[in-house]
Amino acid sequence: MIQQNISLKPYNTFGLDATTKFFAEVNSVEELRTILQNPDYLLVEKLFLGEGSNILLTKDFAGLVVKINIKGIQKIDEDNTHIIIQAGAGEVWHDLVMYCVDNQYAGMENLSLIPGTVGAAPMQNIGAYGVEIKDIFEELQALNLETLAIETFKLTDCHFGYRESVFKHEFKGKYVITSVTFKLSKEPIFKISYGDIQKTLEEMGIKDLNIKAISEAVIHIRKSKLPDPAEIGNSGSFFKNPEIPKTQYDTLKEKFENIPSYPINESTVKIPAGWLIEQAGWKGFRDGRIGVHARQALVLVNYGGGTGEQIRALSEKIQASVQEKFGISLSAEVNFV
Ligand code: EPU
Repeated sequence: MIQQNISLKPYNTFGLDATTKFFAEVNSVEELRTILQNPDYLLVEKLFLGEGSNILLTKDFAGLVVKINIKGIQKIDEDNTHIIIQAGAGEVWHDLVMYCVDNQYAGMENLSLIPGTVGAAPMQNIGAYGVEIKDIFEELQALNLETLAIETFKLTDCHFGYRESVFKHEFKGKYVITSVTFKLSKEPIFKISYGDIQKTLEEMGIKDLNIKAISEAVIHIRKSKLPDPAEIGNSGSFFKNPEIPKTQYDTLKEKFENIPSYPINESTVKIPAGWLIEQAGWKGFRDGRIGVHARQALVLVNYGGGTGEQIRALSEKIQASVQEKFGISLSAEVNFV
């Protein structure tokens, strides 16, 4: 059941060929508990993985990797307007989105085709095209790694922010998410104002708006910009979009009049990191087996055979040049292991 010295290449979307000393897959909370109670591995460092779509393996891992494969999608409750759906942490995120779209449960369609699993999604409050998981979140169950008890986290317990949650901060390494429950609407509320959705729907010739069409538009946009990890190793956006003081933005605007921005509040604006990286000259940059995607500068890629160390070094060079040109510090969205 526990394998030894295996390659993690199939288990991370960057396709990095780091090894792990121990590896196990768990299909249920009970299997997870059994492994955690195994005296041979009590003191061994552990890494819990979904699809490995948000990690950068910078070296071989000397501990136990546990792939969370807990499946299952079920209706928990419903009334005339809403439906409550619970999904196992190991369900593929996009499969859950397709289940909801096919059943006309609205709320997740803008989050189509995001790589990763259901259990990983709340960790960084995944988001795209104007929707974040927090908008449809009901609660989650997580295994407390100290007590091995299942605990329930409601929306306010999770402290969701932009690509942030309590599980990346005070509860980092303390819980494993085992299932997530969502509240979806039977009456669709279309969110199409963000990015190219409206334009894409028009190009698709959609007359009667519906959630399937929005999902298809999002899939179309993502496929046109983002590399498919099955073809080119990557981890989606490598950095977060930085938030800077409005005063700093005003000064930058004098020098870079086309700088794009999204207001956060009266005193803060968000700048697309992809624009900063492109302006610093990195878009399409390639150094041997790694590089910066030619259609989305926020995505670092492994063309095959690159290492996590090389990608880390490239990310640091990008950070330094963006800092030098704009005085803005980029922080990674991807987790380094
Ligand atoms: N831009 C450039 N050059 C580039 C890329 C982007 O100038 O090479 C500028 C353009 O002005 C563009 C703007 O950046 O209009 C925004 O680009 P895009 O719509 O591609 O979105 P993003 O801000 O780069 C964020 C999320 C994505 C999410 C999209 C759509 C983050 C870190 N990333 O990217 O999420 O899919 O918005 O909502 O917030 C992910 O987290 O892995 C991810 C892919």
